[in-house]
Amino acid sequence: MKQFQDINALHEQLQAWRARGERIALVPTMGNLHEGHLCLVDEARRHAQRCLVSIFVNPTQFGPGEDLAAYPRTPEEDCALLESRGADAVFLPTVEVMYPQGEAISTGIAVPEELANILCGASRPGHFNGVATVVAKLFNLVQPEVAVFGEKDYQQLLVIRRLVADLNMPVTIIGLPTVREAGGLAMSSRNRYLDAGQRQQAGQLYASLEACCARLQAGDRDIARLEEQAVVALQEAGFEPDYVSVRRAADLGLPGSADRDLVILAAAGMGQARLIDNLRCRR
Ligand code: PAF
Repeated sequence: MKQFQDINALHEQLQAWRARGERIALVPTMGNLHEGHLCLVDEARRHAQRCLVSIFVNPTQFGPGEDLAAYPRTPEEDCALLESRGADAVFLPTVEVMYPQGEAISTGIAVPEELANILCGASRPGHFNGVATVVAKLFNLVQPEVAVFGEKDYQQLLVIRRLVADLNMPVTIIGLPTVREAGGLAMSSRNRYLDAGQRQQAGQLYASLEACCARLQAGDRDIARLEEQAVVALQEAGFEPDYVSVRRAADLGLPGSADRDLVILAAAGMGQARLIDNLRCRR
């Protein structure tokens, strides 16, 4: 498996693949890879002859006081995992390579407010602009036919779909279902911040989404009360909930009584970790 830090060397490799008529799939990550990421690689390989994984802890999507400095960086282990899973190459740029003018003063993407400033965007101002900006830069650098993202970051996935649609980017976005630990906890690099007891307890986040979905499917129409009950259940399970919210799956708008295809999203703190999860719920 080839490793690139430099854009010119990456471009030479991409050109060689294209000259042979090979399709390229990109899996953007921030590293500290787990089985969820590796399933993205498996999916990417089903859609293209070549799978490139990027590993870049993107500073522009972290706010002041967030875990940019502490975010786990494990490039050697990541590369070994990617090689064992059949990735063709990994791109590991530095901040200077990605933002040569300095990340604070570079041109960026502004995601529409109705998508960027709700749910996780309400408590992480600027986060989705940073995500959209780095993903747009990676798409421009790599020009992949396909890019694969996890549905665990459901709002992020919709932001990226919107980015690609609004800016006419010629890339197909594929979303992959969340990979979970045995107790239901969604796999995440931030699970590393949990101790063994917290990790077990954290499965309650998904359980609260399942309980909420069961009530919706049983015909309960009082969404505000269901959200509140889920928040209380999370508090009782030791979380500091940020939100539990039932939204339309297509665009994260507030659901009307005729909307059937819903998604229940939650974010909650446990110890040092901010955990997010979601569940599609058809009623
Ligand atoms: O989901 C992530 O790991 C990141 O937000 C992404 C998409 C790689 C952009 O930095």
